[in-house]
Amino acid sequence: MAEETLELRGRPKAEAYRHLTQHLDAVLTGVDDEVCAMATVSCLVHHAFGHLWTGFYRVVRPGLLRVGPYQGALGCLEIPFGKGVCGTAAAEKRTVVVADVHAFPGHISCDGRSASEIVVPVFDAQGGLVAVFDVDSEKKGAFDQADQVGLEGVLGWFAKAR
Ligand code: SME
Repeated sequence: MAEETLELRGRPKAEAYRHLTQHLDAVLTGVDDEVCAMATVSCLVHHAFGHLWTGFYRVVRPGLLRVGPYQGALGCLEIPFGKGVCGTAAAEKRTVVVADVHAFPGHISCDGRSASEIVVPVFDAQGGLVAVFDVDSEKKGAFDQADQVGLEGVLGWFAKAR
């Protein structure tokens, strides 16, 4: 049933993300609303893996990110491009994987329990940066290349022409 959340902990990551992407495409069939999609992606990814914080920072004007739909404890409201992990991913338009947030210069701590994170840029159909997707874990080194490939695939939803 398309409305169910998923439990994917313990599954091989490539398989888990494949499953998640299919599920998401089913849930978002006929949807043409970015905020609705951001909320749905945040919820599914967060609960499928049991992350600490999962959500979007939207590009609201040149050089500024503002928090969007997310799951988890209170997030920072705004992050300038170039600041912290999110701001670095936005400024450089690339995925940033941080195995130990305490070793990342300028890391913005919204939740002291965060130990590692991955931030993936989100592009629209014209290749414009619309947001970054930030996932935080309580475990060090929780994210790797498989998460990067998997999440970039999931976030491809925003680049599909509709
Ligand atoms: N850790 C992020 C800030 C956002 S929160 O963790 C929700 C960063 O350094 O970009």
